Amino acid sequence: MARESWTGRIGFVLAAVGSAVGLGNIWRFPWMTAENGGSAFLVVYLGIVLAVGVPGLLAEFVLGRRSRKSPVGALRDLSGSRNWGRVGLVSVLAGLVLLSFYSVVGGWILRYLVASPTGAYFADPGGYFDAIAHGPGAAAFHVLFLGLTAGVVYGGVRAGIERATTVMMPVVVLVLAGMAMWASGLGGAADAYAFYLEFDVASVQENALDVALAAAGQALFTLSVGAGTMITYASYVGEDRSLPADATMIAVLNTAVGVLAGLVVLPLLFSTPGVDAATSGPGALFVGVATAFATLPAGELLAAGFFAVVALAALSSSISMLEIVVAYLVDERGFARDRATVGVAAVVLVTGTASAFSPQLFGLLAGPVVDVVLTTGLLAFVVFTAWVLGPDAVEEFARGTRFSAGLGDAWRTLLGVALPPFLVFTLFVGVSDAVGVTVASWQLALAAVAVAGVVVAGVVRARRPRPTA
Ligand code: PHE
Repeated sequence: MARESWTGRIGFVLAAVGSAVGLGNIWRFPWMTAENGGSAFLVVYLGIVLAVGVPGLLAEFVLGRRSRKSPVGALRDLSGSRNWGRVGLVSVLAGLVLLSFYSVVGGWILRYLVASPTGAYFADPGGYFDAIAHGPGAAAFHVLFLGLTAGVVYGGVRAGIERATTVMMPVVVLVLAGMAMWASGLGGAADAYAFYLEFDVASVQENALDVALAAAGQALFTLSVGAGTMITYASYVGEDRSLPADATMIAVLNTAVGVLAGLVVLPLLFSTPGVDAATSGPGALFVGVATAFATLPAGELLAAGFFAVVALAALSSSISMLEIVVAYLVDERGFARDRATVGVAAVVLVTGTASAFSPQLFGLLAGPVVDVVLTTGLLAFVVFTAWVLGPDAVEEFARGTRFSAGLGDAWRTLLGVALPPFLVFTLFVGVSDAVGVTVASWQLALAAVAVAGVVVAGVVRARRPRPTA
């Protein structure tokens, strides 16, 4: 059977934007910004999106389109080495880890969607969230969300993923824009904007390491980079697309939606007495926003609209997580799509239920584990692109674009030389944080440069001459 493909540019871009725009933008981004110094965090985050996120996204696009395979097959075929194929398995792991907590949060969203029209959580938003966050109810809604996700992936690349995302994404953007306009009329809007935009350099300097780590984690997560999703999606793309142009467009749209979400969520929080926007943390969306809706006229309706949009955004991301694993089974294990979809969903049914019952497991997967997996994945993809694919990567980069070849070379240098130490450094900071040792940042930086050097040197030495196709 011929490999499926997107119908055209719009299909590919909207599917990729659908993957990028999700709970990362609406749930994580506003409170991460608020907690890490407002607009100063924004500046660090935007810098990392530009310098790491977009080049990394492009590396995944190049690997996917060049190989027309999902990550395992891509790394194996492009290098001619089975070991590289094994490295690609990191993406299968990423897909399973991501889905195992994302589907639980997706379940919470569906729960709030169903509860909104009657205002079921209006009397006691905090207590309601505590009651539904973990346990049998959380598991049931996780299964529902997973079922919706699997239903779309089951339909295939065109009839499932593309058809769903081309409807969902415009709806998400339009409704959020409308809500941001409406929120500008709320009493606390001015305070919210000030908070968002006040340039708190001091707090960034104080916690430079933590802010950089949070910003890096958020930049990868929100762009769906490091999981191999974008390799998989780009394996269905046509020859005539400009990959650099598409990557830029996706990053711009994704960031715009993050800012829009902030323009909805923060004014709501600032207009509600008793809600502290800066410290409400991951509960901001569920407790803070829910409290805000409870105090507003027609809050039931507004809340239902809001959570419906969040559900669409979450779903268009979760399908891209499931697709990584399904594409692996189809490409590499000879499964039919329908069986692969049902099989992977059955696995996540179990792992997700475990994290629906255990707050500890959930916190672990959603925090340190996913950060480490995405960073490791991206490290493998950028080293591979720069040092194994090498000049061919630059050629693929330039295909169908009007960008100069010089830009492609600069991109390759960035991937091969600057990003590995940065990513290893992030891994070190993350791990030393997780195990609770404090090491001076210059020591970590030195160690990161050394380890990255060894990794790159090892890859360059091991590279075998590829058969000329
Ligand atoms: N980018 C998605 C979000 O912001 C999450 C995601 C990460 C999706 C990695 C796929 C792969 O919600």
